[in-house]
Amino acid sequence: MHLNRGVTVELEGGAVDADLVLRPRVDGLLTEVLAAPERLAELVEALGSPLNLVLPRRLAENAAAFRAVYAEHRLGGTIYFAHKANRSTALVRELAATGCGIDVASLGELRHALAAGFAGERIMATGPKDAEFLWLAARVGAVVGADSAAELTSLAGIVDRFGFDPVRVLIRIGGFDSPGVPILSRPSRFGVHARELPAVYDLLDRHRSELRLLGTAFHLDTTGIEEKALALEGCLLAMGEAMARGFAPTAIDIGGGFGVNYLAARADWERYTTELGRAVLGRRPAMTWQNYGYGLRADGATLRGGLGLYPAHRDLAGADYLAELLARESAALGRPLATLLLENLYDLHIEPGRALTDQCGLTLARVAEVRTLHTGDTLVRLAANSRDISTEDHAVLMDPVLLPARQAPGEQAPVYLGGNLCLEDDFLTRRAVLLPRLPVPGDLLAFVNTAGYFMDFAAGPALMQAQARTVAVYPEDGGWGWCLDEQYWPGKGDRS
Ligand SMILES: Cc1ncc(COP(=O)(O)O)c(C=O)c1O
Repeated sequence: MHLNRGVTVELEGGAVDADLVLRPRVDGLLTEVLAAPERLAELVEALGSPLNLVLPRRLAENAAAFRAVYAEHRLGGTIYFAHKANRSTALVRELAATGCGIDVASLGELRHALAAGFAGERIMATGPKDAEFLWLAARVGAVVGADSAAELTSLAGIVDRFGFDPVRVLIRIGGFDSPGVPILSRPSRFGVHARELPAVYDLLDRHRSELRLLGTAFHLDTTGIEEKALALEGCLLAMGEAMARGFAPTAIDIGGGFGVNYLAARADWERYTTELGRAVLGRRPAMTWQNYGYGLRADGATLRGGLGLYPAHRDLAGADYLAELLARESAALGRPLATLLLENLYDLHIEPGRALTDQCGLTLARVAEVRTLHTGDTLVRLAANSRDISTEDHAVLMDPVLLPARQAPGEQAPVYLGGNLCLEDDFLTRRAVLLPRLPVPGDLLAFVNTAGYFMDFAAGPALMQAQARTVAVYPEDGGWGWCLDEQYWPGKGDRS
């Protein structure tokens, strides 16, 4: 990115500071991929726009970083990749070659994992489950992360009817009482409340020949470490209650939510969010489409609401977040959480999605049209839409990289990025993005770090627009090679 600090750029009759950028964090093989714009242009020419690139090896490297935290604390347990983060076959196959497990949240994902080489015992079935999903999970010996008493009853019925071996189950706890200082725990539609556990243990007692209690679990959709520490403590207490009831649980599953740091510089994030607040209050020119506030609103001279954005710059994310959580002291039990797990010889299971896919991919989109609106704003229409690249939907703001296929850098240009759907709100982002020069049709924008949820989670065939193909990229001969996603198998690119 070429920054002209201190310079201002015209936007909607006002001005945007030239340093209002949100530069993405890029490293490893992804940097090398971006350094070959001609090759990327050829790929889009051949395979169409949008185009997803995934980097399977990086997934395995990210898993190794989590594994190192386990080793540090001498903890056992399994890293289950939350498949929902990405549909790529290459990623799942690469993972099947490691010691990781996989967390599947649908029948389709379960079948995909089995076909990629995962044996049933390395699979964890989570999320809402219908009878077919439960049947296949039970048949292949997957662990079932049970969501409710009703689900356990259905599962026990299937096991009994088909004479399957007992299924290992984890009880997902969706609400905890805080023993000491009250800590806000957000309500969840998943799992049972800790207070309902006695009834669940009664049910498991009645189904000892069909269900085997492996342990307790939670997944909290929050970045808050305090809430997670409280939940882990709640799981430890629940394990004690289960043992008192004559069960022999051995594992605690703390779900995902370890997070990713998307931005290269904290200063970008702080500057941008501060200025966004000022813009909403009318103290500076708008930075977003119709002065959209991302949850912030002006009430006279007062800023109200809350910033509904993922903290795109995070000092603590991924494996480091796990390390920090494990070092937290349990208020009720008086020792660090890692020590408590080790003393009880409990396995620690985790289900990272986003954090395991950090730096594992990017999405390319071709510029289809560049138009000046009557307001003076510039609208860049892409051959892709907000479902193909759903960073905005997931509340993550980071700049795309303009690939200088043909042109030299020019004047910075603030542009709105519109999609190819005839929907008013089909913006890839509602904020004006500052590009190093005005793009021209045929240029490419690379949206980096899209492998976790932004690449294919929401993508579909709306308006029969082309859906992105996915290619797998791997290190080869000191550079990188590629193949279609479905043609990738572990070892690709290695010299035998
Ligand atoms: C049960 C469960 N486990 C794991 C995850 C993965 O979370 P993340 O991608 O934030 O790590 C999710 C995400 O929705 C989930 O619902």
